[in-house]
Amino acid sequence: MLDRTAGLSEAAQHAVEFLAGLDERPVAARVDAAGVRDVLGGPLPEHGEAPDVVIDALVAGAEPGLVATAGPRHFGFVIGGALPAALSADWLVSAWDQNAAFHSLSPAAAAIEEVTAAWARDLFGLPEDASVGFVTGCHTANFTALAAARHEMLRRAGWDVEADGLNGSPTLRVVVGGEVHVSVLGALRMLGIGSRQVVSAEADAQGRMLPDALDAALGAVSGPAIVCAQAGNVNTGAFDPLEDIAGIARRHGAWLHIDGAFGLWAAASPALRHHTRGVELADSWATDAHKWLNVPYDSGVVFVAHPAAHRAAMSLTAAYLVRSADEPREPMDWTPESSRRARGFAVYAAVRSLGSRGIADLVDRCCRLARRFADRLRAEPGIEILNDVVLNQVLVRIVPASGDADAATRAALARVQQARVCWLGGTRWHNMEAMRISVSNWSTTEADIDRSADSIIEAVRA
Ligand SMILES: Cc1ncc(COP(=O)(O)O)c(C=O)c1O
Repeated sequence: MLDRTAGLSEAAQHAVEFLAGLDERPVAARVDAAGVRDVLGGPLPEHGEAPDVVIDALVAGAEPGLVATAGPRHFGFVIGGALPAALSADWLVSAWDQNAAFHSLSPAAAAIEEVTAAWARDLFGLPEDASVGFVTGCHTANFTALAAARHEMLRRAGWDVEADGLNGSPTLRVVVGGEVHVSVLGALRMLGIGSRQVVSAEADAQGRMLPDALDAALGAVSGPAIVCAQAGNVNTGAFDPLEDIAGIARRHGAWLHIDGAFGLWAAASPALRHHTRGVELADSWATDAHKWLNVPYDSGVVFVAHPAAHRAAMSLTAAYLVRSADEPREPMDWTPESSRRARGFAVYAAVRSLGSRGIADLVDRCCRLARRFADRLRAEPGIEILNDVVLNQVLVRIVPASGDADAATRAALARVQQARVCWLGGTRWHNMEAMRISVSNWSTTEADIDRSADSIIEAVRA
């Protein structure tokens, strides 16, 4: 008989060593995937090995291929780290191995979801009766919210989409901003709404949807409509003018969804809340906990102002799925998954360890550090900052005195990545190559920003 705890102490020791070295570890991986496959691959093993042996071998083979995404100088994509309380809670979630589908499977997981949902609504200033689902990330949160939107808008048009599908249904119109995040289009695709069927309302130079363009787009269509707005553009951090957009959506009888993967967290900061003015007027919201809240992967949250629509789009019944006779909320009714990791615990631990003030401080600090980054870089000849740094995102372009700025930007980015002091990703913004910086980690300091800015400047001068 196996010892249930075999391998745990080895795992803990490896984890502690990894975390202790995270601040100083070169950010990029030391070996590529082929290097990891060479060590850990091979034919299917016929005989098993002891858990501690497996863990030691896994660490030896995988560790050189890890990226320090949880560390303080990974500025690629929009990547949060792991707050100590959230990480510890997440370990327990694995040890407890709860299935968060039903009360009958885990009253603790169900209760924690309810507590955490209420805290999250409070943090963002969302309606108290909004329903909440704990999902894998914002992409799935967008999907869940838009499934609720599809249900409700077609129901109002006299159509039961869960029963009758989309064939022959009233046409559902979807309007997005010109800089919509691709995960919204991905979510719509899964819901049977192709990207060529989506109408794009023009955005301004920072990527904010233009209210007049939305008004015109909605005016040009008839029938049930959904508007997808954005809090926090993935390149610039810019916010759509939510209050204006909510007024227009309401006037046209459209459902308003807000993709706030990281930008919704501005609503948790008194200093930044003005960016999300009007957010509470929407019908649904999607965000991530694994980005700015610094909960370990994976963790997203969806909110819907119309619980009946949310539940109708997600809930399933079968004779063996035992529902609580006493509890009004079954966790499975609000997500597209059935069996599910108990993600609420880590979100709860993160929120409790910071408190609302700590969350506001985290968000404010990241934005301050992003501005410091931008100021350091723009002081260097040949470096331009392409966006207004209103949040935690900075777009950097290299413009040499002579020659091709796109090529210079690409070359500088490759040199930055090779130097491994920090990691940035590339993007194209308004037909220009750019490097993207996202400051989203709880442990990033001013010294990290200065070291990283020096590394980028060195790469540009080279
Ligand atoms: C604005 C926005 N929406 C949605 C997503 C998708 O989030 P996830 O990859 O966590 O599912 C992202 C990811 O960066 C994003 O920036």
